[in-house]
Amino acid sequence: MKILPLLVASTLLFSLLDMSSALARTILITGATDGIGQHTAKKLAADGNILLVHGRRPNVGADLVQDLKTRGAKEVYYFNADLSDLDQVHVLAKEVSETTEAIDVLINNAGVFDPTPAHSVQGYDMTWAVNVMTPFLLTRKLLPLVANSKDDCPRIITTSSISQSSSLPPLEELFETNEIAKSGHRAYSDSKLGDLMFTVQLAKILMKSADEKYQKIKCLTMDPGTVNTKMLLAGWGACGIDVRDANNTYKLATEYGAKQESGTYHFGGRGSSDAKSDDKLNSLWKALETHTGCTYDDI
Ligand SMILES: NC(=O)c1ccc[n+]([C@@H]2O[C@H](COP(=O)([O-])OP(=O)(O)OC[C@H]3O[C@@H](n4cnc5c(N)ncnc54)[C@H](OP(=O)(O)O)[C@@H]3O)[C@@H](O)[C@H]2O)c1
Ligand SMILES: *[C@@H]1O[C@H](CO)[C@@H](O)[C@H](O)[C@H]1NC(C)=O
Repeated sequence: MKILPLLVASTLLFSLLDMSSALARTILITGATDGIGQHTAKKLAADGNILLVHGRRPNVGADLVQDLKTRGAKEVYYFNADLSDLDQVHVLAKEVSETTEAIDVLINNAGVFDPTPAHSVQGYDMTWAVNVMTPFLLTRKLLPLVANSKDDCPRIITTSSISQSSSLPPLEELFETNEIAKSGHRAYSDSKLGDLMFTVQLAKILMKSADEKYQKIKCLTMDPGTVNTKMLLAGWGACGIDVRDANNTYKLATEYGAKQESGTYHFGGRGSSDAKSDDKLNSLWKALETHTGCTYDDI
């Protein structure tokens, strides 16, 4: 009679131990030094995860590492890179690959709104380069690490927006390297539609992979909410929610996200119909491969 409660207690204990190890996932977040990325990193730290955080300001990065450890992160690593330079994206991917063998969740969060047109290091429109070309290249470089994940639901989360354009301009215009004529708002909205289309097409490619490790990777995208970060203040004013309530990115990285279908857009409207056109998805994909110099053909 006395053995039963003992059994129950030990089973409970073992399942708790089991849970704590299963819960520590390895999560990479770009743009974790401010705004929504930082808030998401803090929440994921409190859950005891292993965090790989990226930024472009080493001093802020050092403080962030301490803060995330205090909040309960199991391990924290900081990576510095200017994402407006594709060469630095290559270095970032290499450094991450030297730090971990597997990534359970890759969060493409870093993004920029530039009120005035600017050029990236390779001469592209800054907004298009940082918000779309960089996640495209970084994801390709880190894909083998995500494929190595032992998690039930490895994922790639990319940040779109409710302010995404309803349709993309011609590709020549997006990859223009001379005169950049469009407004900062238009460039931003185009880039956020680019992020949605990237996710939809990536999901298709991974599903069709002959390799099970790639097939099981889930690709998700969302509007992170209208949030009073420095980006919103610069472009739209303080019309959003407090960053402490910006939990959409975290949701996709945790249980909610695990239940969603790959290739889906969440939280901010229905998403542009461009993301339903195979022609538009394919031609954007080809142009991204050409201009970033990487290919997903071997996946
Ligand atoms: N806030 C909103 O209402 C809203 C709405 C829809 C979508 N979003 C999206 O949410 C994401 C996060 O935005 P946020 O509002 O949190 O903006 P934020 O506070 O300005 O944070 C952006 C992050 O990206 C980093 N970053 C920007 N350009 C970079 C570059 N060239 N190289 C390296 N890192 C760079 C920033 O680094 P620093 O810390 O050094 O600046 C920062 O860590 C973006 O993708 C944005 O498009 C935001
Ligand atoms: C978001 O998460 C924070 C911290 O976990 C919590 O305090 C806050 O109430 C949440 N906000 C919403 C709107 O869910």
